[in-house]
Amino acid sequence: MALRDIVQDGDKILTKVCRPVEKFDAKLATLLDDMAETLKLAEGVGLAAPQVGILRRVCIVDVGDESGLIELVNPEIIDRSGKQCGAEGCLSFPNQYGIVERPMFVTVKAQDRNGKEFTIKGEALKARAFCHEIDHLNGVVFKERAERMLSPDEIETT
Ligand code: CO
Repeated sequence: MALRDIVQDGDKILTKVCRPVEKFDAKLATLLDDMAETLKLAEGVGLAAPQVGILRRVCIVDVGDESGLIELVNPEIIDRSGKQCGAEGCLSFPNQYGIVERPMFVTVKAQDRNGKEFTIKGEALKARAFCHEIDHLNGVVFKERAERMLSPDEIETT
């Protein structure tokens, strides 16, 4: 496993639409392993492949619950309901937070690293993380969805 550099604010790669994964090979496994290590060190709740410079539909989420690390390849939100409104950030935008409205519940269909299809439900923070990471695969960052960004004072008290 190896750490990968996280692409930062302003890099055009964050605005690109990612291509589907077609080959479930050793290269994909290495990417997922590296992303997991990178996410852990950065202490984030999610990371998408374009954030490490790879324009493929791959992301990972770990909200610290019993599910542990969730690997999503070619993920799609197939159901969403409810509403939540709260502060959201991104490893590519350090020290920036915005108020973003997201569904409270989502169901995601995806493939695992071997190509096997599965569905997974997320509620609250996990739903937010799924939406945020899948947005990355479509070249959308949270700032575009934010109703407003938080001021430095507000961040201090968050
Ligand atoms: Co992000």
